[in-house]
Amino acid sequence: MSNSQRRILVTSALPYANGPIHIGHLVEYIQTDVWVRFQKLRGHECHYVCADDAHGTPIMLRAEQEGLTPEQLVERIGAEHRRDFADFAIAFDNYHSTHSPENRAIAEFIYRRLRDGGYIARRTISQAFDPVKQMFLPDRFIRGTCPRCKAADQYGDSCEVCGATYVPTDLIDAVSALSGAPPELRESEHLFFTLGRFEGLLREWLEQHALQQGIVNKLNEWFEAGLQDWDISRDAPYFGFEIPDEPGKYFYVWLDAPIGYLASFRHLCDRTGLDFDAFCAADSQAEMYHFIGKDIMYFHTLFWPAMLAGAGFRLPSNVFVHGFLTVDGHKMSKSRGTFITARTYLDHLNPEYLRYYFAAKLGAAIEDIDLNLEDFELRVNADLVGKFVNIASRCAGFITKRFDGRLADAAEEPALLDAFLAAAESIAAHYEAREYSRAMREAMLLADRANQYIDRRSPWVIAKDEGRAAELQQVCSMGLFLFRVLAIYLKPVLPTTVARAEAFLGEPGLDWAALTRTPFGGTINKFEPLMQRVDKERIAKMIEASKDTPQPAAADAAKQQDDFISIDDFARIDLRVARIEDARDVEGADKLVQLTLDLGGEKRQVFAGIKQAYTPAELVGRHVVMVANLAPRKMRFGVSEGMVLGAGPGGQEIFLIAPDTGATPGMRVK
Ligand code: 2FM
Ligand code: ZN
Repeated sequence: MSNSQRRILVTSALPYANGPIHIGHLVEYIQTDVWVRFQKLRGHECHYVCADDAHGTPIMLRAEQEGLTPEQLVERIGAEHRRDFADFAIAFDNYHSTHSPENRAIAEFIYRRLRDGGYIARRTISQAFDPVKQMFLPDRFIRGTCPRCKAADQYGDSCEVCGATYVPTDLIDAVSALSGAPPELRESEHLFFTLGRFEGLLREWLEQHALQQGIVNKLNEWFEAGLQDWDISRDAPYFGFEIPDEPGKYFYVWLDAPIGYLASFRHLCDRTGLDFDAFCAADSQAEMYHFIGKDIMYFHTLFWPAMLAGAGFRLPSNVFVHGFLTVDGHKMSKSRGTFITARTYLDHLNPEYLRYYFAAKLGAAIEDIDLNLEDFELRVNADLVGKFVNIASRCAGFITKRFDGRLADAAEEPALLDAFLAAAESIAAHYEAREYSRAMREAMLLADRANQYIDRRSPWVIAKDEGRAAELQQVCSMGLFLFRVLAIYLKPVLPTTVARAEAFLGEPGLDWAALTRTPFGGTINKFEPLMQRVDKERIAKMIEASKDTPQPAAADAAKQQDDFISIDDFARIDLRVARIEDARDVEGADKLVQLTLDLGGEKRQVFAGIKQAYTPAELVGRHVVMVANLAPRKMRFGVSEGMVLGAGPGGQEIFLIAPDTGATPGMRVK
């Protein structure tokens, strides 16, 4: 690589502000953080920004459910995200929120440019509308029976049982997941971004940049299928930014999410005096990279470059796509205890284990990676504890105890040290290409060589011979010189462990350039153990803590939870006033009275267990409250088409709620 300093802006995808960071997310943040740390270590100017993705219907509804404003929810989750990232040593230069003044300003700016450039179209569309909640429903909030396999309770866009995809109107017996009411179709005018107008530009972008093969294939597929206009507006109520000059219409969350990259960077620039345009303007000479998962490629390789171009900004230098995480070969699952949140992991294990494990597995291809928990334990123990850290623990004690921390003046085996230093360019190339697994393999092969050297020279044997002190110092120093080289190579992956190593080496802030400055004749500080072995028990406890089956102690609370119905369940109960038109004894039943109820025209037959409290004659003419939408139940005496509400201990003390209120039969009670 050239020695000239590069200027680089890097982002990771913005996590939604309605859920915790989990180990699946961490693949990406660790991958990006390693890359950024590597660039900085090499002396480049690199800025890593991210933010919480704060807008959209799910966040609005979740806040409502928790009795919070969306702003309060986003604030709370944002703080949790920041803590999780900090504890995993994900070193953002700035972490912001899409619900920020910077994002509003840039989103409005981009939108106006697109609109004035003629890239925004209007069309009226008809969409599912919840008549109870008075809002349009995203597909995910419509449930019903799959039109293909007839599985019940499927989402409005796809069936989890047979995998069919469809439009919500295809669902059988569709209901709103929010209110339970059947959705209506309503029309509304939407704004569309005319993506197709950018096809030529996107094809050019594809040709000029070394995108991953998986992206190239996908883009070609999408071009082939034809680029569709993109609906960028949503109707109120919506948590987001209102669209300029379009009262009651909001930017769709996916419009302002990637703009959040720029907004977070803008915030950083405003704080530190960096020049925003030098990185983001159309003529920028800087590089800009987005790390993302394979599920959001469409947004980042079509919409986003097109929006940037349409608004006069620079395009991404590249988009780096990774695959998903599986745990022990399966999708993360709550019942298996493999849906592990960042916090649960941190409660049990050292974050550097996971950073290393992911690095040891990650390559540049868009492939899923597997966290195999047994392999995790074995590999971390073998590589980090058994190989890397072991070099230092075998050598440092002798240097501090016997030589007052003083290192030898030269390498005992210069050829071996040279071989270590010679690996620098190849390891750097692997990091640069995001081939971390190769970088880790090369580093571990070197660690093996260092340990073989120590075995061969056996300082613990030399140490027994007073007359071989100089040799002891040389051998142990040699071990530490080699360790120091490895510490630099591993620093992007193990920042915390290497910071400890730097403390005992007395060299804070080691960087790539420090490779050329082996500390011959230097002194070291007291050695503290750098890393503990992975404890199998702790992995087991972490899995246990991640299971959603309640633990015995928690069982009561969970059971109580089960005993509650939600407000939505309650909203589904249709309570009506009914007039008892006729009441009769039921032959052969001690408790039942057969009632004919008038619901304002509609008649219902209900068998009610109130015979001991009321004679039929007392009942006729009374008003009662009934559950009108209870599924009809076949009883021995006939079909019961509802339930009358009463209160009391039973027997003779059952009190009907609304005796002769004068209320209109059929009237809804709530
Ligand atoms: O898929 C997601 O989790 C989105 N919140 C990612 C947004 S990335 C960027 F576009 F903001
Ligand atoms: Zn199906």
